[in-house]
Amino acid sequence: MGGIFSNSVGHKLVMAITGLFLILFLVVHLAMNLTLTLNDVFLFGRHWGEGELFNTAAHFMISTPLIRLMEPLLAAGFIFHIVYATLITLRNRRHRPVSYAVRAGNHLSSWSSKNMYILGFALLLFLVLHIWNFFYKFRYTTMPETVIDGVTMDNSYVVIAELFNSSVLYCLIYMLAGLVLALHLSHGFWSAFQTVGWNNLKWISRLRVISIVFAILVGGGFAIIPLYFLIR
Ligand code: HEM
Repeated sequence: MGGIFSNSVGHKLVMAITGLFLILFLVVHLAMNLTLTLNDVFLFGRHWGEGELFNTAAHFMISTPLIRLMEPLLAAGFIFHIVYATLITLRNRRHRPVSYAVRAGNHLSSWSSKNMYILGFALLLFLVLHIWNFFYKFRYTTMPETVIDGVTMDNSYVVIAELFNSSVLYCLIYMLAGLVLALHLSHGFWSAFQTVGWNNLKWISRLRVISIVFAILVGGGFAIIPLYFLIR
């Protein structure tokens, strides 16, 4: 077991497992945040007005103990992913000029693979800003409230809408983050599957296509949210 933490294959395995875990988080996070754009819809047998669907979903998430329990796990996942990415990058710099897992492929994917660390670092900078924008505000400041179906809850929607409505720059930063995330995922998703052993020849090319489609859907999905507020 000690080997996992001390050799480069072990580092890649930790990157792959934590990366797949983070991908799962991103899918849930995206699905949840896309409800920010559903503000006058008929769903689940009722009409949802401005912010009602998002606030109800956010309230459900925050008041479900199992989901709250995921928070420290998620933080640990991010920390491991970042620490091991740094270790691999430093090791590769010492041993050879090109980063790990670079193989022949299409331009988007091979460009991303060489720049995984830079893209990841850009995402880290975005995350610091992002946590301060929302997570910190939601947890440590007094939030506006709203009542939906007789239940009093935080009006998280209004805080998010205010940020995007008040600043074109923030909209652009969040859209750029979607693009950076897409580039990071276009390589990371495929590479993770390969590392955990799903690497027979037939599947390598399929996984590449799946990764790129997935990356565009997730990155594009996140970018649509600030775009929605920008053009509304
Ligand atoms: C338009 C895009 C996005 C929106 C509107 C958004 C919204 C939010 C909100 C409202 C929270 C606070 C949740 C809470 O504390 O209850 C949050 C937290 C967080 N977001 Fe995002 N997010 C976006 C994109 C991203 C991206 C691209 C990433 C990762 C690369 C990300 C990673 C996180 C993390 C790690 C947290 C802290 C954990 C959590 O509270 O669930 N977000 N986001």
